[in-house]
Amino acid sequence: MSQNLQTVAYIAASALFILSITGLAQHETARRGNIYGIIGMVIACLATILSPQVNNYLTLGVSVVPGVIIGILAASLVAMTQMPQMVGLLNSFGGLAALLVGYAEYLKLSPNAVGAEITIQKIEIYLGVLIGIVTFTGSVIAFAKLQELISSKPVILPARNWLNIAALLGSVGLIFPFLGVFDLNLTGLQILGLMTVIMGLFGIHLVLAIGGADMPVVISFLNSYSGWAGAATGFMLSNDLLIITGALVGSSGAILSYVMCKAMNRSFFNVILGGFGEGAGLTSPGSAQVQGDVTSTTPAETAELLQNASSVVIVPGYGMAVSQAQHGISEMTQILRDRGVNVRFGIHPVAGRMPGHMNVLLAEANVPYDLVLEMDEINHDFPQTDVVMVIGANDTVNPAAEEDPTSALAGMPVLQVWKANSVVVMKRSLGSGYAGVGNPLFFKENTQMLFGDAKQNVEAIVSHLREARHRGSSRSPVEVTA
Ligand code: TAP
Repeated sequence: MSQNLQTVAYIAASALFILSITGLAQHETARRGNIYGIIGMVIACLATILSPQVNNYLTLGVSVVPGVIIGILAASLVAMTQMPQMVGLLNSFGGLAALLVGYAEYLKLSPNAVGAEITIQKIEIYLGVLIGIVTFTGSVIAFAKLQELISSKPVILPARNWLNIAALLGSVGLIFPFLGVFDLNLTGLQILGLMTVIMGLFGIHLVLAIGGADMPVVISFLNSYSGWAGAATGFMLSNDLLIITGALVGSSGAILSYVMCKAMNRSFFNVILGGFGEGAGLTSPGSAQVQGDVTSTTPAETAELLQNASSVVIVPGYGMAVSQAQHGISEMTQILRDRGVNVRFGIHPVAGRMPGHMNVLLAEANVPYDLVLEMDEINHDFPQTDVVMVIGANDTVNPAAEEDPTSALAGMPVLQVWKANSVVVMKRSLGSGYAGVGNPLFFKENTQMLFGDAKQNVEAIVSHLREARHRGSSRSPVEVTA
């Protein structure tokens, strides 16, 4: 493939990636966005494979083919509930790739080469390795926390901020002897190695210090870092497409992190500076154990309540994903809407375990998009709502976020479901959610607990609703008019 044709292919792929991200921003266009992304990536891979720079197809095949097979297997086998870990792991590969390319490019440099171009190349290598190693070690720790290989509780070392500042200043400072501005009696490779170790520990320390409740923002940040690592790789390899793609991932990841920080009422700059999550994941004694009287209910009673309601809001959470209740919920919605009940969904920005988790599951179950509302769109409607069905959500509907300043969730905006006339909470126990915080919602006077697996309970409610519909339609005309 000629250089010109490759440039055209790269421009086409870049345009498709931009269309893809634009498409992914809306439910209605998300599938199309995904297809644009796939086509863009196929064009990008083909243009790279057929480019004049690539001449050793055996090496390429040996490395790419197993990668493709492992990737297809991993993506098909992973459960939706394990997607955040998968994303964490994939971010780490982006970082590792930037790191390895950096070392490979450095080893290709002639030891005695000097000049402005070499200096620029060395800066690119240094930054690529730096971003790459932080992304790699940070993502591995995030993966280990989400996979519960290590505790999700924050590990706070004494003087941790000073340790972080020292690591950052040390690593930035090491670039000067690396560029030959002054001599440290170390070779360039040794300096690069020293910086890699320091920043590797920095990445581990940064993510270890972040509590479970704040992990969504961290994953999104690491996603952004992996984009910047890709862009740095693009500079090292003089590959324009990699620079564009990396910058797209880096900047869209940064915007997503900002949106999530706002949703969780956390400071964006505190996250960047690492002074983040100190309170997160630490439950205060008062908030961990909430006690009181609980009213429990049954699927039959819940079906009755729903049939007599004129407005219902369904609030799904991680438990819906675990039990895969979305198809039953979709059918329940349809039956209620057929009866003239105004049914809507309220989605918290961090419900589930990844951004858009609930939206994806509801779309998969064909719930109409226009019924699915964001937290800000639905929160003021709760006081006028007859019944709220909380299905496997916990932290995202916890009133302690507003009522208990000592709670680990304090300050996080939540769905104010307790303001509705009646609330039915579907979960298996009174246990806490991801943040490990007790939930006073379960003990409120207008709350009824429907204990058990969400899918089984939703199916039971659906069968009661179907029976009622059947009874209704088989009534005699006299009964109907009466
Ligand atoms: P959570 O607070 O995690 O609570 C989910 C609840 O689902 C649990 O309390 C559990 O209670 C229940 N559950 C589990 N399996 C169930 C089943 N089979 N049937 C019925 N219920 C079941 O959920 P949430 O409200 O969606 O909040 C999300 C949390 O995850 C937030 O703290 C958020 O910060 C965090 N997080 C979010 C993300 C993103 S990006 N969304 C990423 C990482 C972490 P039982 O055990 O009693 O059933």
